[in-house]
This record gives sequence, structure tokens and C-alpha cells, in this order.
Amino acid sequence: MEEQQPRQERAAREPREAPEESVALRFQRGFLAGKRLRDLPWEDLEQILKNSEDSSPLLTVLQKHESMGAEPLEQLYEAIGDVLNTEETTQCYKSYLLPSGDAITLCESVAIISRGTTGLVTWDAGLFLAEWALENSAVFCNRSVLELGSGTGLTGIAISKACHPRTYTFSDHHECVLQQLSENIRLNGLFLPPKSHGHGVAKEEISEAELPGFQGPEITVAELDWNLVTKERLAELQGPDVIIAADVVYDPELTQSLIGILQKLSSCNGDGEAPEVYITCTIRNPDTYCRFQTELGKVGIRWQVVPSPQKNLFSYDQHANITILRLHV
Ligand SMILES: C[S@@+](CC[C@H](N)C(=O)[O-])C[C@H]1O[C@@H](n2cnc3c(N)ncnc32)[C@H](O)[C@@H]1O
Repeated sequence: MEEQQPRQERAAREPREAPEESVALRFQRGFLAGKRLRDLPWEDLEQILKNSEDSSPLLTVLQKHESMGAEPLEQLYEAIGDVLNTEETTQCYKSYLLPSGDAITLCESVAIISRGTTGLVTWDAGLFLAEWALENSAVFCNRSVLELGSGTGLTGIAISKACHPRTYTFSDHHECVLQQLSENIRLNGLFLPPKSHGHGVAKEEISEAELPGFQGPEITVAELDWNLVTKERLAELQGPDVIIAADVVYDPELTQSLIGILQKLSSCNGDGEAPEVYITCTIRNPDTYCRFQTELGKVGIRWQVVPSPQKNLFSYDQHANITILRLHV
């Protein structure tokens, strides 16, 4: 089995644009994804301004402003005051740009854990898996995909929009997550039949996916708890060709039930072939990650590390230790 060096690999994933374009794009991505101001690439911007031989327009404006000792606009202070006085919200909208220029917009929770779940925000591993999927769309093209622990839906919406799966089943176990997930899928123009997970659409709402000529995948949102799932429930999912999950290896108890459901799903594929399984892990605690691998070994599931995506598309912590494992169930 191969061990991965995620941090070293990340060094090879330099953006290919000119430095100014790349920094501008990272500002745009970070801003749309709701990053904090301090997490935007200020140091890189400063470096570009310092290095630029012919004074750029931005530098000129900054220098002029400094030399004049000008006071910032009063309206600016008022606007900041308005923002500071706004009541705190529990939800926000974040946008993630796809290479096509299309954006995925998601309603997410402001807090990383809310209503007793981690599933109401998008995690780095979900973004990482989406990046990998976009570079490896053949894995998903014309195949039936099941995602476990979908959360807000970022990975699945990206795959549904860009990788042409035949069917895509999002799943989760938490009622609020399933509700938010269904809303996010519809918000992004994908057609989710009203019967899916019982979260109906109002009759007058017609998404672009219902218009004639729409070529998107057949989408389902399934309530699936790895602890409680039965063989009958899994049989209803009609044997996925590909199973994916992002950031689901963080609690040793949870990994036991995750491995359990993967074992059950291994025999469910309609044409008798075992599904391809890809699990993306953020390695926060190496013990939890190693224990997952040990538990896989105990039940005879082999695994291998999959090369990381080459190109960074989304705004997330580039120092996070993230790896994708392909499991041979
Ligand atoms: C850390 S979040 C990751 C969400 C998403 N995959 C992402 O990367 O943004 C973990 C997800 O696993 C789901 N989950 C946790 N325990 C589960 C269980 N027993 N059955 C099904 N889903 C579960 C949570 O509801 C949550 O959506």
C-alpha cells in the first residue's frame, strides 16, 4: 500500500495563470465562498505590487490616496456601520465557481456545527473531491453514483453539472441536512422530483431542468443512516456503479458503520460487479485515519491512494492534509 505526501503533492498544483490573474481569481473565489477577509491572499497581492516595475493602476491609486492624506468617504463609514449593526444571521449563501464559469450557489450554515450536525457547511474534503471529479469525469460519465454523507451537496452538484452521470443519489441521515440539501440542488437548476425524500416543490416552481431538452442526470435525495440501514433499503438504490464520500472519517465509531454500509453495498450492483468506491479524508488526527485503514484491512477491503487533483479550483485551506482513497470492496 502506498502512503501519500499530500503537502508535497500540493506544491505541484500551482495555478497556471499569470501571478496577477491568479491572485485576482483567488480573491474572487475567496470572496464568493464567504472567506474571512484575513484569509484572502493579501501577502501575495502585496508581493505583486512590490514586484511590479511599471506602476499598476491599483498601486497608483493607493499611492495617491496616501500622499493626499485623504479621509475615506463618509458614506463608507455609514455602510460599515450598517453592516455592523445588522442582526447576526445563522445562514448565508456561498458561491463556488466551476471552470465553465458556471457558479454553484449553496445556502449554508454560518457555524461549522449547528443543529447537532456537521452537514450544514461545505468541508474542504468535499471541495477537494469535486476538484478531483472534474479532472476525472470519465469515472462518473453515464454511470450511477451514490454519495454518502452529502452535506450541503457541493460535490454532487458539481459532478451532476459537469461529469454527466446517468443517475446521482445524494444521501445523508440528518433531517435538516436533507432539507437543506434538497433546496440547494433545486437552487442550482437541477431537477429533483417532488417525491424525492418528501421535500416537495411548490406547484408553480419550474426549474430550468424541467424545460424540454434538459440533459441532466436523474437525481434522488435518499435518507440513509449507516447505522440503521437495511438490505431492503439498499436494494431500493439499485446498485450504484460508483460510491463516493467526503470527510466522513473523523469519528472511530462512525467509521465502523461506514465500513459496514460499504460491505453491504459491495454486493448490490445490478450487473454483479463491485462498485468503485472513493473516500476523501481530511487527516486531522493520524490515529483516526490509520484506524480506518486498519479496520478496512480487518474486513478484507484493500485500498490505494489516488493521485490528488492537479489544479486548484476552489478556495479552501491549501495546507489541509487531504487524501482520496480508492477502496476495493
Ligand atoms: C463533515 S460532514 C461532510 C459533508 C460533505 N460530504 C462535505 O464534504 O462537505 C459529514 C457528513 O456525514 C453525515 N453523517 C454523519 N453520520 C452519518 C450517518 N450515520 N449516516 C449518514 N450520514 C452521516 C453528516 O450528516 C454530514 O453531512
